Amino acid sequence: MNLWLFRMLRSSVGRKVLMAITGLLLIGFLVSHLSGNLLVFAGRDAMNDYAQFLKEHPGLIWGARIGLLAIFLVHVITGLTLAAENKAARPIPYQKEACIQASLPSRTMARTGLLVFVFVVYHLLHFTFGVVQASKHAKHLEGLRYDVYDMVVLSFHNPIIALSYIVAILVLWMHLWHGASSFFQSLGWNHPKYRPVFEKVGPVLSTILCLGFLSIPLSAWLGILKAGGM
Ligand code: HEM
Repeated sequence: MNLWLFRMLRSSVGRKVLMAITGLLLIGFLVSHLSGNLLVFAGRDAMNDYAQFLKEHPGLIWGARIGLLAIFLVHVITGLTLAAENKAARPIPYQKEACIQASLPSRTMARTGLLVFVFVVYHLLHFTFGVVQASKHAKHLEGLRYDVYDMVVLSFHNPIIALSYIVAILVLWMHLWHGASSFFQSLGWNHPKYRPVFEKVGPVLSTILCLGFLSIPLSAWLGILKAGGM
């Protein structure tokens, strides 16, 4: 292995940098995923055309999937290692005063991160592999082209599915709230002059992203988005 990379992985500062870079790349995925998903509001054809375009470019989609999986694994494994190290270095929990200073999102990063991981597995079983709500998924593969619009909208007509997504997106919100701001600190960009700006990046970015994601299950559940032909 490249000596530089090896040294980076061995030092906890290096691993924090790796967390920051992989976190930024995952946020990039979320921005592009949300942009594609918001096409649901542009109508059935717009969303299905986009899904069809991706399907017709397997090189593009598989390249992105493999890259995303690698980035995701590095982020999760490095995060768990850092959390375990922090715990080992501090066997006695924080005193009350320290807890007051650290926000809830920052204290629960490992837990919210793990919950997001569980959600992603569930989400893939739902929309990609069709294991959750299998009958609905299969129905939408029958036509001439993949009806992603109907699959998404009909799924969220089920309140349990809609609620499970809403809860998961709220957890993601907490994770990104702190995560997107700590990016700057991990890279050593914590000049007092810019710190107030950096501290706002996480809350603002996570709020925009998560409101965008929440709008989809909520609109389908409330009947604002209607399935094709209904
Ligand atoms: C309400 C919000 C969301 C909707 C409607 C949605 C919809 C979809 C759909 C339709 C697919 C493609 C399934 C396929 O054809 O293979 C997909 C894939 C995926 N989604 Fe989501 N998604 C949402 C939120 C999220 C969130 C919050 C995350 C991450 C935390 C996420 C991560 C992924 C991943 C990793 C894939 C697999 C990408 C791939 O195989 O190309 N999604 N999503």
